[in-house]
Amino acid sequence: MGKAYAAILAGGSGSRMGNPDKPKQFWLMGGKPVIVHTVEKFCLVDAFDKIIVLAPKGWMQQTQDILMRHLPQFIDRIALVSGGAERNDTIMNAIAYIESEFGLADDDIIVTHDAVRPFVTFRIIEENIEAVRMYGAVDTVIPATDTIVQSVDGETITSIPNRAEYYQGQTPQSFNAVRLKRLFEELSEQEKAILTDACKILVLKGEKVALVRGDVSNIKLTYTNDMRIARAMIDGGDVDNA
Ligand code: CTP
Repeated sequence: MGKAYAAILAGGSGSRMGNPDKPKQFWLMGGKPVIVHTVEKFCLVDAFDKIIVLAPKGWMQQTQDILMRHLPQFIDRIALVSGGAERNDTIMNAIAYIESEFGLADDDIIVTHDAVRPFVTFRIIEENIEAVRMYGAVDTVIPATDTIVQSVDGETITSIPNRAEYYQGQTPQSFNAVRLKRLFEELSEQEKAILTDACKILVLKGEKVALVRGDVSNIKLTYTNDMRIARAMIDGGDVDNA
């Protein structure tokens, strides 16, 4: 069986969080930076040969210090690599690192995950590994809860699709590493600019992507309100109806 790599995508600047001084993956949540919560989850899954953390170029030293301070017991399984300009470039940096350090085998898999989704569960990670070995490409999704309304002009409704057929995409997204690299390299610069989602690269090329059931708690920290929710979740925000 091929090797299994985790790629924790932390190369973004978090501009929608409105704090340019410090990208959101370094904000504190329950006394630890968000990125530590996320990386720790993957370190606890033995199936991974290496957990590759991709950080912004200007944050390499700080990230190294944070990982050393909070996760010293796992440091040998972690590799720190700089991220790219776009999210997909960051994923390609992870694959380039694997290729140069270990070589790339046909059956190697890569489980890519947003550093800013610290509530990912072990079930989700394990089902990604299982499904990507079987299908070669996997997306993690939850059924859409709100009705989806399509409007092409932003003023009036174009259509209201059947909600039962719609899902919200989360991460991890997992791939056969060789196949993802090949498809990405085939894209034109124009296609690269619009393909922000790694799974979409496969879908547009007519390749099958399997679904793994995500979780409503696997939220992405995008806006400051998400950070408020995340901190409440960490503080043991059990729902009490009494
Ligand atoms: N990401 C990355 N490399 C990039 C851009 C994004 O690794 N060049 C990562 C982010 O660090 C984050 C995840 O992809 O963990 C999801 O992206 P998003 O929430 O869009 O993050 P940012 O780009 O940081 O946010 P914003 O769009 O608000 O600037």
